[in-house]
Amino acid sequence: MGKIPSSKITPKEVYKNRRLFMKQAGVIAGASVLTACGVDGGKDDHAAVIPAETEQIAPTESGSRTDELGYPLTSYGAVTNYNNFYEFTLRKEAVAKESENFVTDPWSIEVGGLVNKPMTLSMDDVYSSFDEEERIYRLRCVETWAMVIPWMGFPLHKLLAMVEPKSEAKYVRFETLYDPEQLPNQKSNNFRWPYVEGLRLDEAMNDLAILSTGLYGERLLPQNGAPLRLVVPWKYGLKSIKSIVKIELVEEMPTSLWMASAPSEYGFFANVNPNVSHPRWSQATEQYVGEGGRVGSRMFNGYEKEVAHLYEGMDLAKWF
Ligand code: MTE
Repeated sequence: MGKIPSSKITPKEVYKNRRLFMKQAGVIAGASVLTACGVDGGKDDHAAVIPAETEQIAPTESGSRTDELGYPLTSYGAVTNYNNFYEFTLRKEAVAKESENFVTDPWSIEVGGLVNKPMTLSMDDVYSSFDEEERIYRLRCVETWAMVIPWMGFPLHKLLAMVEPKSEAKYVRFETLYDPEQLPNQKSNNFRWPYVEGLRLDEAMNDLAILSTGLYGERLLPQNGAPLRLVVPWKYGLKSIKSIVKIELVEEMPTSLWMASAPSEYGFFANVNPNVSHPRWSQATEQYVGEGGRVGSRMFNGYEKEVAHLYEGMDLAKWF
């Protein structure tokens, strides 16, 4: 798979000091009991875990680029070495290594369900059908760590327009590859595999929701969800499902992996909301990986202007 044409990207921010990052990331690993999205890797599906520690992880290596709020980009080293991809491992610092042989070529994505034009796309079809653009977004994990990532990708609504949703379609359901030989943690029954996520159709049509093919001008690495993942920046990171093989338009609200695996802790919407705590920890603040202190979290992760209208009349004081 080739690189994204240089005409389409801003220069790649070189990550220079991986060792320093890894050393300092170790501080985190040592300080936290288990940094997970909410389900323990042990026997009890709903056992307690604590969110990521708040120590400083690494200096930013992103140069001077920022998002629209002035938050500096998270370094390439941090974005590709501190990951949640539970199909491989629950240890964030180990995902990169454990996923290095993940086969993402060939790959195909089935787009179907309640559509007029179902199709199966190869990644070459994806690269040639959609113009890739850069989107700098904040990614806010429900565990309260955050990053600022220069994604490459295209709006999900462009793919949806291509398949022509029928009028009965109300939701979009996404599914990650199920292949326990390659994704060893799928052999465990702590989670309801495969990883599934969903959006209401109007959320999916919002221009902020993208399908990502790369970051920092490079094709996605396995740890970040190669070759194609969803990015929904106003929702907790768990909605941004990786390594997608199936996209289906459906009438009923899909049950996500988190709703199925920890129903007392996760619901469908998972919009970032600093005013409403997770059952086991506050969502009021967040820690940018590679940055100093904690900062206050923002409603809809700072994208209120673009998305608040989608939730008019909904009770936002509920956790889900
Ligand atoms: N997608 C799959 N298939 N498996 C996962 O474990 N983790 C989610 C999301 N997508 C996850 C997933 C969570 S909890 C987060 S915070 C983001 O991916 C992390 O994305 P990143 O590792 O690229 O930063």
